[in-house]
Amino acid sequence: MREGVPPVQPLSLTGWLDNALVGGVRFTAIKIGGQEGGALLGPLVVDPSVKGQGYGKALVGEGLTRASAEGFGFVLLVGDMPYYGRFGFAPVAPGTITLPGPVDPGRLLAVALEAGALEGMTGAVAAHPR
Ligand SMILES: CC(C)(COP(=O)(O)OP(=O)(O)OC[C@H]1O[C@@H](n2cnc3c(N)ncnc32)[C@H](O)[C@@H]1OP(=O)(O)O)[C@@H](O)C(=O)NCCC(=O)NCCS
Repeated sequence: MREGVPPVQPLSLTGWLDNALVGGVRFTAIKIGGQEGGALLGPLVVDPSVKGQGYGKALVGEGLTRASAEGFGFVLLVGDMPYYGRFGFAPVAPGTITLPGPVDPGRLLAVALEAGALEGMTGAVAAHPR
């Protein structure tokens, strides 16, 4: 879904330690069942040499703050609930939102950045560059 699609530049961040790149996060603008205003978070990656030092949390936290400021209503991702739960992500009801490839339903997570932005959200996810 991300292939050939530009990232949302203001939200796609890199983490640096001295002059070394140690992490990054990318966001892609999406629509779900025709409903615009969403962003897909991923990939998120942090160099194992600085694991557990807060880079991941900083990248996600800052990305979500910027997503909200840029007017995105919700963010979707495929990832670990124990990690992303701290940011407000929760599992999507199985079968309501579908990605082009197979996804473990327990790992499809979403957070509303605007109240009610995910209410009644159903359908297929597609890239929707803006
Ligand atoms: C997952 C990843 C991004 C975390 O980055 P990080 O900078 O090491 O993490 P942070 O320092 O921000 O956060 C550390 C906290 O997250 C927890 N954590 C890390 N990975 C976790 C996981 N997969 N599930 C649950 N908790 C996790 C740690 O236990 C720690 O908890 P604490 O704050 O209670 O002590 C990084 O390990 C990574 O790049 N992994 C490989 C790629 C990957 O899995 N990306 C995510 C795909 S969805």
